[in-house]
Amino acid sequence: MSEVIKIFDTTLRDGEQTPGVCLNVKEKLEIAQSLARLKVDCIEAGFPVASPGDFAAVSQIAAEVKGPVIAALARAERKDIETAAQALRAAERPRIHTFIATSDIHLQYKLKMSRDQVLAAAREAVACARRFVPDVEFSAEDATRSDWEYLCQVYGAAIAAGATVINVPDTVGFIAPDEFGALIRFIRERVPGIEDVTVSVHCHDDLGMAVANSLAAAQNGAAQIECTINGLGERAGNASLEELALALYTRRDYYRLHTGLDLSRIYRASRLVSSLSGVVIQPNKAVVGDNAFAHESGIHQHGVLNNALTYEIIAPEIIGLAANQIVLGKHSGRHAFEERLKHLGYQLESHTVDDLFRQFKQLADRKKVVYDRDIEALALQQDSFRES
Ligand code: KIV
Ligand code: ZN
Repeated sequence: MSEVIKIFDTTLRDGEQTPGVCLNVKEKLEIAQSLARLKVDCIEAGFPVASPGDFAAVSQIAAEVKGPVIAALARAERKDIETAAQALRAAERPRIHTFIATSDIHLQYKLKMSRDQVLAAAREAVACARRFVPDVEFSAEDATRSDWEYLCQVYGAAIAAGATVINVPDTVGFIAPDEFGALIRFIRERVPGIEDVTVSVHCHDDLGMAVANSLAAAQNGAAQIECTINGLGERAGNASLEELALALYTRRDYYRLHTGLDLSRIYRASRLVSSLSGVVIQPNKAVVGDNAFAHESGIHQHGVLNNALTYEIIAPEIIGLAANQIVLGKHSGRHAFEERLKHLGYQLESHTVDDLFRQFKQLADRKKVVYDRDIEALALQQDSFRES
């Protein structure tokens, strides 16, 4: 039996908090449409009180993007909540996502509030949001550095006030996977009414564990994962949607969890977000990096040319990529070289291929990558040599 995991995409809110990224209304709408085609469950469209541009983007997405729930962020303050509600007016399925920090370090140095004051603010914020929409998510910012008993008290108050989703953010990417799994279990065991709401997680990647932490939470009962395309987000970013989706799909027999995503849309969504945000995808990024389906060494190329399963655990077509890529360089073998010659239309005798392969290796020592045009030049040279 496989359980469903809901995907809450926050590319347009936390993702836009990536230093240097600023998306205009048209760009945000284009990304939201791509996320709807990808079939995410919820799109966090922005933080309406933050700027007139964000208000406009959330309003337009709410009016034009159908399918997913459309969420807007609001601090636990009346003005934020009212502004979020206004921006969401045209949404088919609006959600107000309100938050307040619960860790002592945030209470002391940022909010300058007592635990009792934060508890009251959380309760009031959720009750206020519920006057506008039936779907309210409550996040305890810096949950993973909060006192667990106090955290449960705040979540209990939020549920009693009408929250429909309880989000557990690892705001500073601090927690370890086992520990996060234990925290989710603790919350599920201790918080009254928790069985009637969705438990969500929101992980940052400061120690490179956002995806692992999200998966650990899902294995311990979290039913919604918050993430971004290409792992964009504040500082080191958020859990990457494509990594989570492909981990759950590729290891479905292990996790026994599935999303409703149309995986064949992942590659296009990733490229769109990269081009509009201006954040280049690192070549060795899992799933969507240029090298994720590229094979350079001779041993690997030989295996993949015989059967891709030897070195590929994800078929490129799954994410909407046409094919894998055999990159010819100094580690490549004769087998891959001959296959490329055939692909380029050169059916040559074995001793000619041997000859060209020697020249190719010399060339590959000088150049990092040998392109098709270089191989054609070698082959043509050989042809003309034979003709003269
Ligand atoms: O990282 C965080 O705590 C957040 C909250 C607003 C959910 O982004
Ligand atoms: Zn965040």
